[in-house]
Amino acid sequence: MKTYFVRTFGCQMNKHDSERIAGMLEDRLGLVEATQPELADVVVYNTCAVREGAEERLRGHVSSLKAAKTVNPDILIAVGGCIGQRDGESMLSYLPHVDVVFGTHNIAHLPSLLETAQRTRRPSIEVLDTTTDFASDLPALRGTPWHAWLPITVGCDNFCTYCIVPYVRGRERSRPLDDIVAEATRLVADGVAEITLLGQNVNSYGRDLYGESRFPEALARVAETGIRRLRFVTSHPKDLSDATIAVMAENPAVCNSLHLPVQSGSDRILDAMNRRYTAAHYLGLIDKLYSAMPDLALSTDIIVGFPGETEDDFEATLDVVRAARYDQAFTFLYSPREGTPAAKLEETVPRDVAQVRFDRLVELVQSSALEKNRALVGSLQEVLVEGGSRRDASVLTGRTAGNKVVHAPLPDGIDPASLAGTFVSVRIEETQTWFLSGHLEGYERT
Ligand code: SAH
Ligand code: SF4
Ligand code: F3S
Repeated sequence: MKTYFVRTFGCQMNKHDSERIAGMLEDRLGLVEATQPELADVVVYNTCAVREGAEERLRGHVSSLKAAKTVNPDILIAVGGCIGQRDGESMLSYLPHVDVVFGTHNIAHLPSLLETAQRTRRPSIEVLDTTTDFASDLPALRGTPWHAWLPITVGCDNFCTYCIVPYVRGRERSRPLDDIVAEATRLVADGVAEITLLGQNVNSYGRDLYGESRFPEALARVAETGIRRLRFVTSHPKDLSDATIAVMAENPAVCNSLHLPVQSGSDRILDAMNRRYTAAHYLGLIDKLYSAMPDLALSTDIIVGFPGETEDDFEATLDVVRAARYDQAFTFLYSPREGTPAAKLEETVPRDVAQVRFDRLVELVQSSALEKNRALVGSLQEVLVEGGSRRDASVLTGRTAGNKVVHAPLPDGIDPASLAGTFVSVRIEETQTWFLSGHLEGYERT
């Protein structure tokens, strides 16, 4: 074993798990990262089961490695994450050239599973029912040195009827508050400028440990560590509290940026989804949020074509999108997941009908995003630099507190890469649907 490649599908939790996987492969097995999977000795796929599309992509990727494995039979292919957790050994029936299958609860065992597969030359498979350790106790290789994911909960207790996550990630478990603060303090000392707290429903943080949610306190205590920017995903509308909104509004380190999935604007569909809030409750939260933070950047997730969705239900979703003034919305066609209650519902929406609704929704979301961006013309934005723009290396690219991509040309002789991880001020001049551009008014070197 000499080199490795990790390909990640799915949500931020998986991206973070992949940083732990890469950290372990380097620390424990002494591997170095390969530039592409075909050139690696160990290829790890960290998978997502949330929709059919992600599964199809995995099958495509693994099958395309077949040729490389014919040339070099020593290549080890490991599949982990949410599909690994769901399928275990049965994965070999549809992906026979996989060498290691692992799940979401045993990332720490990956090095030994790889060694066993290499030694025995047979598939090595392990899937556990519960997590014993938080992945954060493992070494991590951060994708970007200035940003860190910090998991505060794992698993989910909400059982939205369409969703596979509670089945593949298990029940919700919170990390002790002191451990979270200690890790945040270490990250700040390590030069991290932005932390994103992670959980499927961060708002219920602490309920299992302390009998009640202590998310507002967790947010405030992490903000006190001196971190420049603090974000969190994902928030469930039924659990977003006034106290959390207050901490966001009062604390300059907590970005005025929120991802609040609505899923549907129809109370009938929300009920069938087991979301446990109404459109009116959701819009009430939006009012409170904008009153507390007039510059709030708001994003959401929406599912189109849930079983039984009528034209009226869909119109109700469009109404919420208009009222909420989203900066961004992740839109999904409903994808039935075997084993979830919604998969048994018979009143399915024909694909072509769902597709037409989807296209209408995307158009509305784009005009909402553009409108929100236009309001920023003339404003001075603090931008965390990520590096040079892909199109033009003399233009820097970074993100605002509202998580919007910003481009700004740099004076001659300044390499954007040298500013990566620092903050600059950009006066916004122009806006597109998904990015802003402007000119630099100041920068700080660290
Ligand atoms: N815990 C987070 C993320 C869940 S998965 C949350 O509750 O928001 C991310 C998004 O995928 C969900 O918000 C939902 O919009 C979408 N999703 C989940 N299951 C789906 C399914 N079966 N079909 C289509 N979209 C789905
Ligand atoms: Fe899935 Fe709902 Fe849990 Fe989010 S809150 S992970 S959508 S079950
Ligand atoms: Fe996908 Fe698993 Fe995340 S199913 S969305 S990678 S928790």
